[in-house]
Amino acid sequence: MLQLTNLTKKYNDTTVVNNISLNVKRGEIFGLLGPNGAGKSTTVSMISTVLTPTSGSITIDNKFLREKPIEIKKIMGIVPQDLALYQALSAKENLEFFGSLYGLSGKKLKNRTNEVLEIIELQDKKNQDVAEFSGGMKRRVNIGVALMNDPKLLILDEPT
Ligand SMILES: Nc1ncnc2c1ncn2[C@@H]1O[C@H](COP(=O)(O)OP(=O)(O)OP(=O)(O)O)[C@@H](O)[C@H]1O
Ligand SMILES: [Mg+2]
Repeated sequence: MLQLTNLTKKYNDTTVVNNISLNVKRGEIFGLLGPNGAGKSTTVSMISTVLTPTSGSITIDNKFLREKPIEIKKIMGIVPQDLALYQALSAKENLEFFGSLYGLSGKKLKNRTNEVLEIIELQDKKNQDVAEFSGGMKRRVNIGVALMNDPKLLILDEPT
């Protein structure tokens, strides 16, 4: 499902991701562990196309990410380390907004929003502004956002 081959990221002369290779199979849950500053988030940023690798390659669903970035992004969900939500929108509105960016609309968007609200167990608080949520509740919404497109590959950076 996900294959990293000799992946490296350098900032000038500083190497922050050094030649990593790994293979995650379909259905597998893979944990990437390392101390602070090890390069985990940098790796996630390269997988999510926010950063371009200095060298090496990323293959997702048997396609090279650099060749098919848009196609691949449609089947990926990313939960970033830092929350990325609209505080002045409710949980439901955040899910609907990000779902619409994935091309969902009408009944499909409504149904998927309801399904995701069930998964993240926030049905009863769906109309409350995210600004009024606890840290863990905000995290749930952020995970929900990444589930809106029913991704084949879900990447969570510090999901706890
Ligand atoms: N824009 C940048 N320019 C230069 N160095 C950077 C930049 N962004 C990150 N780094 C460096 O890259 C290294 C890896 O950072 P990264 O955020 O990937 O670590 P991490 O494993 O996710 O750590 P944490 O567990 O603290 O989240 C760090 O030494 C950091 O200072
Ligand atoms: Mg990190």
